[in-house]
Amino acid sequence: MQVDARNWKALLSSGQVRLEQAGIEEAGNKLRWVAAHLLGCGLLDVLGHLSETPSSETARRFDHAVGRLATDEPVQYVIGETDFMGLRIRCDPRALIPRPETEGLVGCAEEFLRGRKRPSVVVDVCTGTGCIACALATRVPEARVLATDISPAALELARINARELGADVEFRQADLLEGVADASADLVVSNPPYVSTGECGRLPRTVRDFEPRLALDGGRDGLQAISRLVSGAARVLTSEGRLMMEIGDDQAGAVSEILCKTDLLKFLGLRSDCAGRERIAIARRTAR
Ligand SMILES: C[S@@+](CC[C@H](N)C(=O)[O-])C[C@H]1O[C@@H](n2cnc3c(N)ncnc32)[C@H](O)[C@@H]1O
Repeated sequence: MQVDARNWKALLSSGQVRLEQAGIEEAGNKLRWVAAHLLGCGLLDVLGHLSETPSSETARRFDHAVGRLATDEPVQYVIGETDFMGLRIRCDPRALIPRPETEGLVGCAEEFLRGRKRPSVVVDVCTGTGCIACALATRVPEARVLATDISPAALELARINARELGADVEFRQADLLEGVADASADLVVSNPPYVSTGECGRLPRTVRDFEPRLALDGGRDGLQAISRLVSGAARVLTSEGRLMMEIGDDQAGAVSEILCKTDLLKFLGLRSDCAGRERIAIARRTAR
């Protein structure tokens, strides 16, 4: 049996050469992420292991991961997880990879829920991996969290995440807010698909070829799911309930207009992400 005696430094540099030859962006970061996953350590701690020689099985798994990265598969699918609000969220092609921008949406939702006197009912629409629903259920355990998605595959993954995280979330397969009773939710939170169909074809290959199209495609103008979600929210929200949605970075104007024109909702404004882009739209249900 041939013994693989390369240390981590050698593995990382041969991986770097292979990924650079394949034209993969951020090769070094992605490789460190894989190494940290295999070592069971933090990203920065990888440096402390460079002179160590992993077992030949670990070296084989590293090389296999490099092969997948060389096709531009997202590193989160390769290692099967990502961090979201400090939670380990399992990731695979059944659902969109949770993005750091979406943590801002959870922050707004949490602030609203903590400011309420009574336990609230929350509906996370388009739940994907269940990241938003699980984060809210674990951070605000007194809230009752319901989560919907139209994709049975995404819901399967979301249920696994909730089980592993001990998050008390009720999952339902539904088209947006279909089946949710009138005046039953204090907060509707959602990161819906909002990329226009034309733009989907121009997304970077690592997104376009690997993440579910259903999670991205918001129709001809990117606003189809958002528009339907807004009218659904007006129906299901309790008096003074809130709708909080993640939107595309070029959609602030169009979404503000939709919210301003919707009867029974009052547009409260936009919140920016860490890069200063207006990515969260908030509205309030008027009194019933
Ligand atoms: C942008 S992803 C968001 C996933 C997750 N909430 C997140 O923030 O990472 C959108 C999700 O919406 C789901 N979806 C698309 N159309 C839908 C519909 N009409 N009703 C319910 N879910 C839908 C997709 O399956 C996908 O999981």
